[in-house]
Amino acid sequence: MPINYNEKNKTFKLDTENSSYIIQICEENYLVNLYYGAFIPDSCVPNRSRRATNASFSPVNPRCGFSPDSAPMEYATSGAGDFRISALEIQNSNGDSVTDIRYSGYKIYDGKNEIPMIPSSYVNDKGEAQTLEIYAKDEVTGAAVTLYYSVFSKYDVIARRIRVTNDSSEKMRIERAFSLCLDLPDMNFDLISLYGCHAKERNIERRRLAHGIQGVSSRRGSSSHNQNPFIALAQNGADEEHGDVYGFNLVYSGNFSALAECDFNSTTRVIMGIDPDTFSWELDSGEFFDTPEAIMVYTSFGIGEMSRLFHRFYNNNLIRGRYKTEKRPLLINSWEAAYFDFDADKLVDFAKEAKKLGVEMLVMDDGWFGKRNNDCSSLGDWYVNEDKLKGGLGNLIKRVNDEGLKFGIWYEPEMISPDSELFRAHPDWCVHVKGREPMLGRNQYVIDMSRKDVRDNIWEQMYKVLSENNIEYIKWDFNRNISDAGSVLLPHERKKEFFHRFALGTYDLMNRLVTTFPNILFENCSGGGGRYDPAMLCYSPQIWASDNTDPIDRLYIQFGTSMCYPASSMGAHVSANDRTGYGTKCNVARWGTFGLELDPTYLTDEEADIIRDEIKEYHKNYELVNRGDLYRLISPFENPYRAAWQFVSPDKSRTMFTLVTMRKEFRPHLIVKLRGLEPDAYYKNERTGEVLSGALLMNAGLDLTNTAGQTGESTVIYFDKVE
Ligand code: GLA
Repeated sequence: MPINYNEKNKTFKLDTENSSYIIQICEENYLVNLYYGAFIPDSCVPNRSRRATNASFSPVNPRCGFSPDSAPMEYATSGAGDFRISALEIQNSNGDSVTDIRYSGYKIYDGKNEIPMIPSSYVNDKGEAQTLEIYAKDEVTGAAVTLYYSVFSKYDVIARRIRVTNDSSEKMRIERAFSLCLDLPDMNFDLISLYGCHAKERNIERRRLAHGIQGVSSRRGSSSHNQNPFIALAQNGADEEHGDVYGFNLVYSGNFSALAECDFNSTTRVIMGIDPDTFSWELDSGEFFDTPEAIMVYTSFGIGEMSRLFHRFYNNNLIRGRYKTEKRPLLINSWEAAYFDFDADKLVDFAKEAKKLGVEMLVMDDGWFGKRNNDCSSLGDWYVNEDKLKGGLGNLIKRVNDEGLKFGIWYEPEMISPDSELFRAHPDWCVHVKGREPMLGRNQYVIDMSRKDVRDNIWEQMYKVLSENNIEYIKWDFNRNISDAGSVLLPHERKKEFFHRFALGTYDLMNRLVTTFPNILFENCSGGGGRYDPAMLCYSPQIWASDNTDPIDRLYIQFGTSMCYPASSMGAHVSANDRTGYGTKCNVARWGTFGLELDPTYLTDEEADIIRDEIKEYHKNYELVNRGDLYRLISPFENPYRAAWQFVSPDKSRTMFTLVTMRKEFRPHLIVKLRGLEPDAYYKNERTGEVLSGALLMNAGLDLTNTAGQTGESTVIYFDKVE
């Protein structure tokens, strides 16, 4: 059983195939964390609950001598003797906000329940996970807390979240409620995070933990381009293959905070959850509040293995719907080909030419609705612009379908243009606060998704278009951050609920769409990859990784994205930019979902031939990339000349190795050791026919000195296991 309660030690032991996590109930029912790390098969427990106190400055519980200031608290609260960053703060009706929860009971069951209204990971069958609910209570505020731990043994994953229930007879206010809190016994770690901005998303940043508080957050109303809701703690010196690594990823698309604090004992506390600075939540008597879920993985096999654990788990237990397993159509998107300047004939021409290349779907991007011919109008007016698309949408879709392509469409449902019929009819529907003119972003306002009447209106407009037309794909965009955060409907004491209510509103609308139209493939987008988070993966199995389609810039974006997000999710297109030839552009895009973002009528015959061949390769290797294990071999963040990576099929029978030269090296000497193969098996180089052992490919490696190439060149080599 993955979860066991030991009455003698008063411990809960949560085991995955390669990790163990131990919680103990101590004196006065304090809950402490005894261990999280490599699997321990027995039921002995480390003695971890006593640490040096800060002399007379550390408060102690007068009845039992327990000092929360120095104990490894399982779920830290504010104001009751623990001065580190806290995971929970409740303000009761008289304004006090000292919070102190103590153990009161537990339940263990097979499987895992959904979180009402919030996307989360799931079990395909009950045997895949076991869940522990620990109950804890603050007797003074009346807050009853449930700590949830769902253990997915096969993936070395523990999914965590909490619920706060108001068991008092008065109102209470949640000032902070983090999804995860973890106290580790030392601070010999590097903090890895993913920072960026529009067109430069998810750069890998690694820094040594220092005493004090450090971490990342977003207050932009979305998970953001700027910091991703992912952090890892990697043992000092850990690399792609070696060392202890803890990975944390929040299944949430709104404001978040992921912090680590190293204290005077040189221990480390990690907390991850909704950003407390832009949040509070009022609970009436009897009501409860659920946090989003945080995914936690541990491995002793380095950063690469941490990523593969996330990838496998997300492919199997987060991404859902028809296209979780069914092969997704390869698409051409009209944006970089035409921007706002298209009509039905132009789109049909794209479809005709794209079909010849092996493309399976045409996506009509921004500009098809209202009277939108630039980014200054019509968001919110979700009816087709018949001046542009003469003959209507149904007619256009039929023409595209007749060319043998599916049809997809672009939406930006959470926005409203000041110049729109919707805004003129409902000026109070935009996000704003009383008496202030809201800021514009890309000439648009954000629509108030916290309001059900607003969501119902957008839903009805979308339902009409989607139910009347053969639309098989939606690109769901979100092109600005949220300033002037407020909803006119929220009363004074609930104003700080806005951001979370906005996220819940978006989830509600997305949920209505995916359940009503289960055959539509959703691709999430936010000015590229501004909302690339696990929650969005619950609705859209793929996410447009960046508006930057330059293949060299993409190497950085794709390496960073792959820290926790699988290749199956990574929207990657070939565009007409000219930093490299089409071969390299395709080889880089084949790391992700692969698609085209260009005008196919402009391609030369030679370019079209390259793309056609690459598309064949893409189709042939779909499963290998979509389901395979990724090995990052040479990182562009560490090597100025080149990047290399490898996909290995789950049964280790086939591998695809890609090398891209970012900058020609003078007198290169290049040996690359492959990874993830069977050492005793033999593998045949698909191109040369040479047969080499897995052990040789992984230990001696491939001498690619003569393949290292000119700037912008790339090479792909396949190896197949010989029976
Ligand atoms: C965003 C997206 C682009 C495109 C435009 C349309 O920037 O990232 O791919 O859809 O919006 O306005």
